Amino acid sequence: MADEKEPIGVIGVGWVGLVTAACFAELGHEVWARDIVPAKVESLARGEVPIHEPGLPELVAQNAERLHFTTDMAEVLEHTRLLFVCVDTPPTYSGDADLSRVESVLDELGDSSEHALVMKSTVPVGTGRSIQRRRPGTGYVSNPEFLKEGNAVADFMRPDRVVVGADDGSSEYADRVAALYAPLAAPVVTTDVASAEMIKLASNAFLATKISFINEIANVSEELGADVQEVAYGMGLDARIGPKFLQAGIGYGGSCFPKDVQALKQLAGNTGYHFQLLTAVIEVNELQKRRTIGKLQKHLGSLEGKQVALLGVAFKPDTDDIREATSLVLSGRLQGEGASVRVYDPVAARNGTSMLGGARICDSALEAIDGADAVVLVTEWPEFGELDWIGEIKARMRVPLVVDGRNFLDRERLVEAGFTYEGIGR
Ligand code: UDX
Repeated sequence: MADEKEPIGVIGVGWVGLVTAACFAELGHEVWARDIVPAKVESLARGEVPIHEPGLPELVAQNAERLHFTTDMAEVLEHTRLLFVCVDTPPTYSGDADLSRVESVLDELGDSSEHALVMKSTVPVGTGRSIQRRRPGTGYVSNPEFLKEGNAVADFMRPDRVVVGADDGSSEYADRVAALYAPLAAPVVTTDVASAEMIKLASNAFLATKISFINEIANVSEELGADVQEVAYGMGLDARIGPKFLQAGIGYGGSCFPKDVQALKQLAGNTGYHFQLLTAVIEVNELQKRRTIGKLQKHLGSLEGKQVALLGVAFKPDTDDIREATSLVLSGRLQGEGASVRVYDPVAARNGTSMLGGARICDSALEAIDGADAVVLVTEWPEFGELDWIGEIKARMRVPLVVDGRNFLDRERLVEAGFTYEGIGR
């Protein structure tokens, strides 16, 4: 019966908050989701989903009756006791996390001891402990999210694990939070708050390390004549290594990896520990984003006056998110070298208008490559694989040069058709 299910409060209806709200509603809970931006709440209440996330609009529509979007915190407090905090914790100039939105939530709650906080937002290790010191006698649970953009609904519904961190005094709430996930039949890691916070940061830092590692193997393979695709396949079959996150490319981006790796490095630094490995992971990634310029220069010489097409603006396919996307760095560097840049992305290009500098934003891949001296595949959107490379694309380019930043295209076919092909690490 629906009324046996714990009602859920969600504070902050960004990407994480909306996925959390919609998925708990799908699991049969009444959800009160609160955001401070009236326009966002109004459009959600009309069933309009403001972000590109596969499956999410359908979930919001199917569960409209159980989803209550509001700007009014009092409404959430009246109906719910577990408050999932899903507000933004963006990086500050120092690389520390900006916790001002978390602070605002705490201010609004005052000293109400009836409501337990369940922290989904990624926060520095130690945040939970400090909040608990300030709110004694109140429930606090760390329940970090591990959602991938573009796959978030599936990640929520079929998680590899659920992490529930609670300290002495909050075990009752930890049990209640763990029970919410019981229908998902995932392993539940029950631990203390600081360890839960660390699991989140360490997981993302490890995945970023894996990417920077394979990118360095790729760069060395280019010099030594090995093919990183073959190398990654051979490595990934070792069960201790595993095949995932071994795809060499032009660097990781997005709202999580760059921020979380920096945050963990910074946290360590604050304690006086120099996290050397993460320093290298960050630097490798920054250089990786820029290596494409050298690949273009190798074939075109000076890029002054050359026309370069960037296919893909989003930091990865199936999202319109451009935060920390390699496209932004490439667009700026190419224009710095005097090239004229055209970009196309199926959903994300317009989000980048102000950050792409003077790049021309095109309505189709064909418009972007028309007359180009080179094309760079930045994001592996499936539709880029289906373009008529051999026919129309080649005919429209001034010089048939492709830098495949994701080793995504059919290299043999392109080379056979007369393209100059530069991949990553092959
Ligand atoms: C990531 C984590 O996966 C998720 O658990 C966490 O909660 C948030 O951060 P997300 O940022 O959505 O999710 O993207 P993800 O799919 O992990 O990819 C991140 C970046 O790494 C992308 O730019 C992607 O292109 C790049 N990447 C990924 C590689 O370059 N090679 C790989 O093998 C995998």
